[in-house]
Amino acid sequence: MIFLITGAAGFIGMSLSKRLLEEGNKIIGLDNLNDYYDVQLKKDRLEILKENENFTFYQLDLADRQAVEDCFAKENVDVVINLAAQAGVRYSLKNPHAYVDSNLVGFVNILEGCRHHKIKHLIYASSSSVYGANTKMPFSTNDGVNHPVSLYAATKKSNELMAHAYSHLYDIPTTGLRFFTVYGPMGRPDMAYFSFTKKILAGEPIKIFNNGEMMRDFTYIDDIVDGIVRLLDHPPKANPEFDRENPIPSASYAPYKIYNIGNNQPIKLMDFIETLEKHIGIEAKKEFLPMQAGDVKATYADIDDLQQTTGFKPTTTIDDGLKQFVDWYMEYYHKN
Ligand SMILES: NC(=O)c1ccc[n+]([C@@H]2O[C@H](COP(=O)([O-])OP(=O)(O)OC[C@H]3O[C@@H](n4cnc5c(N)ncnc54)[C@H](O)[C@@H]3O)[C@@H](O)[C@H]2O)c1
Repeated sequence: MIFLITGAAGFIGMSLSKRLLEEGNKIIGLDNLNDYYDVQLKKDRLEILKENENFTFYQLDLADRQAVEDCFAKENVDVVINLAAQAGVRYSLKNPHAYVDSNLVGFVNILEGCRHHKIKHLIYASSSSVYGANTKMPFSTNDGVNHPVSLYAATKKSNELMAHAYSHLYDIPTTGLRFFTVYGPMGRPDMAYFSFTKKILAGEPIKIFNNGEMMRDFTYIDDIVDGIVRLLDHPPKANPEFDRENPIPSASYAPYKIYNIGNNQPIKLMDFIETLEKHIGIEAKKEFLPMQAGDVKATYADIDDLQQTTGFKPTTTIDDGLKQFVDWYMEYYHKN
């Protein structure tokens, strides 16, 4: 199979590309290597992928319509996995236009590529942040998500709507994945667990919002990759029996599906920090602050649907996962 993986130099994109390469597939990786966070980390991830001769890399911007068209025209892609995006909730308050360029304009370019090149399955990253102001737990794909609290979340919800239009119009099987706080080795420096580790080691205080009254469904990277790989065998199919009078939001008469992909075991932020302190071997200096704009207090995924379709079951405990992360961090930044 030939896969186009966008955001291949990113955290999830690199881990997924590595796994699919190991299974003997050909990967076309695409990334613009932007400087939202440490570019060297992105380059180091790419170096790992480039060791495999079945990996081809395009450095280009998803918002560059012609470049994306040329890439689709040149490569004979079977399946597209769109992970490239401007990520981050808080940054969308500072730089909203970056989200429109990468997540909306870029996504239309991907959809058009899928349309004109008869792509067999488009899998794309949505986010748990689409649940926005919802408080009913666990978050279910059968609940409406019409109250986003950040532009980031609004672009991800828009991706789901755009995908539906293309599934309807051009019969493209599309699967949207709402990821729940993914963490692990070679992870994202803009995420709390990563910056906490840096600060704890430097003896600097860590900022804990909403006075630590937060719950997150942290999901280990290998579990996420496993879930995506399982879905490759399950492209959604058109369903003429779909009940249009009572339409559930996560499915359709068109070949369209939305899944949560999370751990289904939310943990308290303070417990997470305690586990991190244990593996680093240092107690953090803590600065407690109020809730931040755009943030949500809790995320908790209902993953029954994904479990039923694919047998997906996350197996990594927070303890094991954070140990893997801290071990990697210490080695990568030569801290031991
Ligand atoms: N990591 C998480 O916890 C999490 C949670 C929810 C959703 N997501 C979504 O999953 C996807 C992957 O996340 P990640 O954690 O690997 O993020 P990441 O930032 O590490 O990876 C995204 C990659 O896309 C690239 N990129 C960004 N804009 C681009 C553009 N316009 N053209 C080409 N490349 C571009 C970046 O350079 C980066 O390497 C994203 O869509 C993100 O929004 C992630």
